[in-house]
Amino acid sequence: MTTISVKTFSDSQQLSSFAAELVLKVVLDSVAKRDRSTISLSGGGTPAPLYTLLAKSPYRERLPWGQMCFFWGDERCVPPDDPQSSYHQAQTVLFAHVPVPVENIFRARGELPPPGAAQDYARQLKSQAAQGLLWPRFDLVLLGLGADGHTASLFPGSPLTRGIPCVAVEANYQDRPARRVSLTPSVFNSARQVVFLVTGAEKAAALAATLVGERDLIKFPAQRIRPTGGKLWFLADQTAASQLPAHIPGVSIQR
Ligand code: 6PG
Repeated sequence: MTTISVKTFSDSQQLSSFAAELVLKVVLDSVAKRDRSTISLSGGGTPAPLYTLLAKSPYRERLPWGQMCFFWGDERCVPPDDPQSSYHQAQTVLFAHVPVPVENIFRARGELPPPGAAQDYARQLKSQAAQGLLWPRFDLVLLGLGADGHTASLFPGSPLTRGIPCVAVEANYQDRPARRVSLTPSVFNSARQVVFLVTGAEKAAALAATLVGERDLIKFPAQRIRPTGGKLWFLADQTAASQLPAHIPGVSIQR
């Protein structure tokens, strides 16, 4: 059964400060238990303030960068130095400022066409999985939410998958590159902790649909995310949380 917690904040800065503490706690705990911490990062603009915080004191000094392994929940199929690349974003605001070994960074190779990038990423995931498994059980997954209910690059209308680690995506999505590679719900749902970061009034309907909308996994892909043996967080600013009811059965809400 999934433990679901919603926590709301007055603004993105407060949300990011809480998220940074959560990252620190999860990483220290997983390093203490398993000697390393596996993290799947999100693209998009919402996590940028969190990445910026992690690159600064006190997190820069307190996080055990040498034992942290980084992946992405999805990547846009553009070269790694393209400003649209999620890897490029993390490299610029985070990795360039902290002592993370390059061999701990497992980026999807967005310079390849989606099918090739998915194949290569699947190979990298397997290389970090326990014996006999296809992907690592992530200690922490960060996800964003689109106003249309997408998460990672699982867009409305995308097929449901089972048991495969990643998919090649060719979708139309606003002004962003829509040729992508994405991890699948099977991977996200095996994680120990999954944290959605959601800010802005334009996300309010999608957040409500994800948590209390009619169950429709095709229309609202974020509903596919329910870690089976892990914890699911929704960290939202007040505007994003504005359409949530006061009580949601089975969900702890802290406002
Ligand atoms: C990406 C992510 C996507 C993102 C959401 C929210 O764009 O790279 O795959 O799922 O997290 O679209 O994006 P914002 O944080 O920019 O609103």
